[in-house]
Amino acid sequence: MVGLLRRKHFYYLLKTGFASKIHQQTFAVSTVKKSRINLLRLEEELSEIHLRLSRVSIENLPYQKFIEKYDRPHTFFYIDPPYYGCEDYYGKTIFHRDDFMKLRDVLSSIQGKFIMSINNVAEIRRLYSGFTIEDVETAYHVSQKRKVVELLIRNY
Ligand SMILES: C[S@@+](CC[C@H](N)C(=O)[O-])C[C@H]1O[C@@H](n2cnc3c(N)ncnc32)[C@H](O)[C@@H]1O
Repeated sequence: MVGLLRRKHFYYLLKTGFASKIHQQTFAVSTVKKSRINLLRLEEELSEIHLRLSRVSIENLPYQKFIEKYDRPHTFFYIDPPYYGCEDYYGKTIFHRDDFMKLRDVLSSIQGKFIMSINNVAEIRRLYSGFTIEDVETAYHVSQKRKVVELLIRNY
């Protein structure tokens, strides 16, 4: 029972949460669209998630330790840090503004490849100017008309 409740809670977070944000989590409802949660498909979707993750290892480590542990010439890291300006969205103490500089320094000496997605901010462009920076247009949700520019930063 507890296991099922935990899995249900996890499922709700996956469907309604915003990128693992832990403070002020939002629960999106719409007056014009159907809910993203379909209780009739709950078991089926949990089963799909279960199958998808069955051979995946999940680590809970600070980025420095994680990168050091897995860095090899054949490693590919996808780096998705908090947005510049939203550093404390995932907890008050785990990521600070100066981590953008520390992360850059860690990434500067890895053997593997990385690609990082981040918001388009002058300070990020300045800090990561030693890498390839590509502007990409995106929308945060499908109904968004006005596109925003995000950055893809990579070392290859
Ligand atoms: C923008 S979210 C990434 C969302 C993820 N790509 C997804 O699709 O759910 C930023 C993530 O960085 C994690 N994070 C924050 N500080 C960190 C740190 N010092 N080391 C490792 N991860 C950290 C947060 O917990 C959060 O999951």
